[in-house]
Amino acid sequence: ASILVLNGPNLNMLGVREPQIYGSMTLDELEAACHERADTLGLTVDFRQSNHEGELVSWIQQARTENDGIVINAGAYTHTSVAIMDSLILSDLPVIEVHLSNIFKREPVRHHSYISPVARGMICGFGPHGYLLALDAIANIIDRD
Ligand code: DQA
Repeated sequence: ASILVLNGPNLNMLGVREPQIYGSMTLDELEAACHERADTLGLTVDFRQSNHEGELVSWIQQARTENDGIVINAGAYTHTSVAIMDSLILSDLPVIEVHLSNIFKREPVRHHSYISPVARGMICGFGPHGYLLALDAIANIIDRD
C-alpha cells in the first residue's frame, strides 16, 4: 500500500525553525525515518512538502486514485483551510492528522483544526515520532478495512 505523507507550510524549515518547539531534526531526516518505518510495515511512502495551499489540495485530489491513505501535517493551514478539509473528504481515503508540537498547550488559535473532523485520528506532541505512530496507525487501518 502507498501512503501520501503531506507536509504544509514552513515545515521545509524544520531543524532551523523554533527548535525549542519543533526540535532539531530536518525534514530530510524525518523523511528518511518515515521510509525506514514504512519498510518495516510493508508500506511505501510518498513524502511531500509545500508552502502553497492549492498545491496541497491538488496532491490530495491525486491521492484519491494513486494512494491508499494520507498522513498530513498541514502546518498553519490546519487552523484555516476549508479547502484542504474538502479535498481530504473527496479523497475518500483514511487520513491521520499529525502535529509535532502539542497544539493544545499553545496559543488558542492553534486549538481548532479543520482536519480533525475528517481524520480517523490525530497525533500531536511527540515530535517526529508522531509521524511513525501515524504510519503504524494507517497500516493497521488498511489491514482492517
Ligand atoms: C504544527 C502546528 C501548527 O500550529 C503550526 O502552524 C505548524 C506546525 C506542528 O507540527 O506542531 O506549522 O502543525
